[in-house]
Amino acid sequence: MLTDEAVAQPLLTSPRQSSMAAMWHSFSFIVVFIIVTPALRATAARCPASDRNALLAFRSSLSEPYLGIFSSWTGDDCCSMWYGVSCDPTTGRVADITLRGESEDPILARAGRTSGLMMGAISPEICRLERLTTLILADWKQITGSIPPCVTSLPFMRILDLVGNHISGPIPGDIGRLTRLTVLNVADNRISGSIPASITALTSLMHLDLSNNLISGPIPADFGRLRMLSRALLARNRLSGGIPESIGSMPRLADLDLASNHISGELPSNLGSIPVLSSLYLDSNQLTGPIPATLLASRGLGILNLSRNAIDGEIPDAFTTRSYYTAMDLSHNRLRGKVPRTLVTAAYVGHLDLSHNHLCGPIPVGSPFDHLEAASFVHNDCLCGWPLPVCKP
Ligand SMILES: *[C@@H]1O[C@H](CO)[C@@H](O)[C@H](O)[C@H]1NC(C)=O
Repeated sequence: MLTDEAVAQPLLTSPRQSSMAAMWHSFSFIVVFIIVTPALRATAARCPASDRNALLAFRSSLSEPYLGIFSSWTGDDCCSMWYGVSCDPTTGRVADITLRGESEDPILARAGRTSGLMMGAISPEICRLERLTTLILADWKQITGSIPPCVTSLPFMRILDLVGNHISGPIPGDIGRLTRLTVLNVADNRISGSIPASITALTSLMHLDLSNNLISGPIPADFGRLRMLSRALLARNRLSGGIPESIGSMPRLADLDLASNHISGELPSNLGSIPVLSSLYLDSNQLTGPIPATLLASRGLGILNLSRNAIDGEIPDAFTTRSYYTAMDLSHNRLRGKVPRTLVTAAYVGHLDLSHNHLCGPIPVGSPFDHLEAASFVHNDCLCGWPLPVCKP
C-alpha cells in the first residue's frame, strides 16, 4: 500500500542530498570520504548564467521581508549556498527549488518563527529552468497571481507543491503534459475553473491535493486512468456531477476525499472493490440512493464519512469479523430500517454516528453499542434500547 511515507520521500530528498547519501554509502572508510569529497566539490558543475538569471527573475517578483532568505541568492554559482536551490551535480542545472514558509523549515526555527510570509507572484521566468524537477513554494500565505501556464512545458517536473498561498486562476489546461509528475498539491489557495480533462494523462501521479479552493465542474469521467494515484483530495471546492465509475478500478487509491462539494447521484457500486481504500470522505454533498453493501464490507476501509447527504435505503447488514472502523459517520441522511446486527461482529468500531436518519427498532446488544453514547443515535424515527431509553413492549 502506498502511504504518506512513499509520497513524502521525494518531498524531503533533494537531488543533492540523495547524491550525498549515495556517496556516503559507496565509500567504506570515512577517511577516504573526507579526502575525496573536496575533490568532487571542486569539479561539481556550476550553474549556467541562464539558470542563474531565471532564478533572479523569479526572485524579483517575490518579496520575503521577515527571514531574508533571498539574501543568500548572491554570487555566480546558484548551485552553491543559495537557500532552497539545488542542482544536478553533474550538469549544474537547477533541479529543485524548495521554499517552505511553515514551522518545519529550519530557517524558521532559527528565526524563532512558526510561519513565514512571502508576497508577490510566481514569475513565468521560472519556465526557463528547463531541468526543474521540483518546485515547492508552500505555506507562504500571501503569494498571489496564477500558476504560470508555461510550467507545463517543464518536462522533468516531478513535484509541484504550491499549497497554502493565495494563488488564483485555473490549473493550466494542458497539465497532462507533465507525465513525470508524482505530486500535484495546490490545496488551500483560490484556484478556480474546472479540473482540466488532461489531468487524467498524469500516469505517474501519486498524490493529488486540490482541497480548499474554488474549483467547479465535474470530476473527469476517466479519473480512474490515474493508476498510480494513492491520495485524491478534492474536498471543499465547488465540484458537481457524479462520482465517476472509473474510480472503482483504481488499484492504489488509499484516500479519497470529496467532502463539502456539490456532488450528486448515487455511490458507484464498485467503490468497495478498490483494493487498498482506507479512508473515504464524501460528507456534505448531495448524494442519493443506497449504500452499496460491498462498500461497508470492504476490507481495509477504516474511515467512512457519508454524513450530510440524501442517502436512503437500509444500512446493509454486511459487516464481518474483518470490519475495522476507527470512524463511521452516516448521520444526517435518509436511512431507514434497523441498525445492522452484524456490526456486533466487527473487529472494531470506534466512532459511530447514525443520528439524524429514519432508523427504527431496537439497538443491538454488545460491542460496539455498549461504549457508544446516545448522541450516536438521536433524531431517528423510533430507535430504542441502550444507550437510548428502553424499548416499549
Ligand atoms: C463527517 O462529516 C461531517 C460533515 O462534514 C462532520 O461534521 C463530521 O465531524 C465528520 N465525522 C467524522 C467522524 O469525521
